[in-house]
Amino acid sequence: MSEVFDGVPSVFPLHVRVRTMVEQLIFTGSWRAGERIPSSRMLAEQLGVSRMTVQTAIDELIAGGYLRSAPRSGVFVNTHATVADAPTESGGDVDWARWIRQPVTPGIPHLQRVPEWWTYPYPLITGQHDARFFPDRQWLSAVRKSLGDDHRHASLDDNLIDDMLLIDELRRSLLPSRGIFVERENVLITLGAQEALALLADTLVRRGDHVVVEDPGYVDARHVFAARGAELVPVPVDDQGLRVDDLTRETSLCYTTPSHQHPSNVTLSPDRRLDLIRRARDDDFLVIEDDYDSELCYRGRPTPAIASHDPHRVIYLGSMSKLLAPGIRVGFVVADPSLIRALAWRRRYVHRQVPGVTQRALALFMRDGSFTRSLHAYRRELAVRWEVATGTLHTRFPDQVFPPGGTALWLRLPDGATSDHVVTAARERGILIDPGELYFADAATGSGFVRVGFSCIDTERVRPGLLALLEVIEECRG
Ligand SMILES: Cc1ncc(COP(=O)(O)O)c(C=O)c1O
Repeated sequence: MSEVFDGVPSVFPLHVRVRTMVEQLIFTGSWRAGERIPSSRMLAEQLGVSRMTVQTAIDELIAGGYLRSAPRSGVFVNTHATVADAPTESGGDVDWARWIRQPVTPGIPHLQRVPEWWTYPYPLITGQHDARFFPDRQWLSAVRKSLGDDHRHASLDDNLIDDMLLIDELRRSLLPSRGIFVERENVLITLGAQEALALLADTLVRRGDHVVVEDPGYVDARHVFAARGAELVPVPVDDQGLRVDDLTRETSLCYTTPSHQHPSNVTLSPDRRLDLIRRARDDDFLVIEDDYDSELCYRGRPTPAIASHDPHRVIYLGSMSKLLAPGIRVGFVVADPSLIRALAWRRRYVHRQVPGVTQRALALFMRDGSFTRSLHAYRRELAVRWEVATGTLHTRFPDQVFPPGGTALWLRLPDGATSDHVVTAARERGILIDPGELYFADAATGSGFVRVGFSCIDTERVRPGLLALLEVIEECRG
């Protein structure tokens, strides 16, 4: 008995340790159903604790149904509380492979995140934000305000509908610049664009449906659709974006990133935009427009969203991940109200809502202009990095075109250099970049490309990092 007691972590208060010990003795069958347990005096002596401690533990075990007290006879193990075998830490004899439904996404690679990427001298990665540009003070002030008298209910209640203040801010200060003017019932707040994709796939995709994805394209979207049983139809991308002419008549859904095609950064040409809408109407399919970073445009104004031309067939996705920080986890869908209601219904039975505090804080942060100011400052810095990065890469690859936007450059490697060699050799020199294989339906096609991010590396390090990368590429050509 004492060994069991000694085995219970000493961080717990003494009476909890005694209680846990008794539970274990019952579970393991050392103390059997109906058996009388030693008196509290005896237990206290054996364990070297006070009788009061033992009595508190016994009272709790009686209240919990593990023990039962019989007047003038003692305390007994309660029949119903005993089990023959104790659960083991390893999961015992549960065959988890039988229970767990594995997602069906064979052959699709997974985006990797390098742990502690910021400790590398040249983190030319994608998907991360430069935390130095996050406006801590203004965000904290918005969070503090979100708990003030006027905002407590929006922030802390169990709300089944989205925060209308945030929806109004999106309608007022973000969507009009994309040419989108909608009502409140057209907008749903999500946990990032990723959740929006998952909700859309759950709601719209039936097993065997033909879902068009860009090739190269966003691998996380491919996972989402494939896991719901979609037949993925990769359609090539050229210097005008998605090749709309290559879409087949069987298409039921087309996922596209027209502002800055992921990963090539190409903007879908005006003709192709109109073609896409025409095809969607003629062949009766829906379009998901993932507009994850359109605000990060370094020359002129971003092209209006496709959804501005057809707000019924085109489902628009936005995200705060590239504009503010991915850890904030806020995205949104703009679509027909009947679809928004269906998505909200699904979301309700997964996590109910995006945290109220986050929604209200973001609304206040947008309303007082902090969002626009921080976005402008970050965009100015990214524009400098883009100039430096493209200038440096053009010294070696003068013919490559790098569209002015986004957070990464899509680089075609010279003959002889393969992406996996370049990525590995670069990492050994402290340079982190993403392999092209991640983005193509046929990984072999991707071995001729790498993706070079500039969203989270110090501006002064962009040039030295890329010069070092150019050396690595040259060495890998052999
Ligand atoms: C194509 C694309 N869509 C959406 C997102 C944003 O996803 P989330 O809002 O879930 O962070 C990203 C981020 O990397 C992306 O590359």
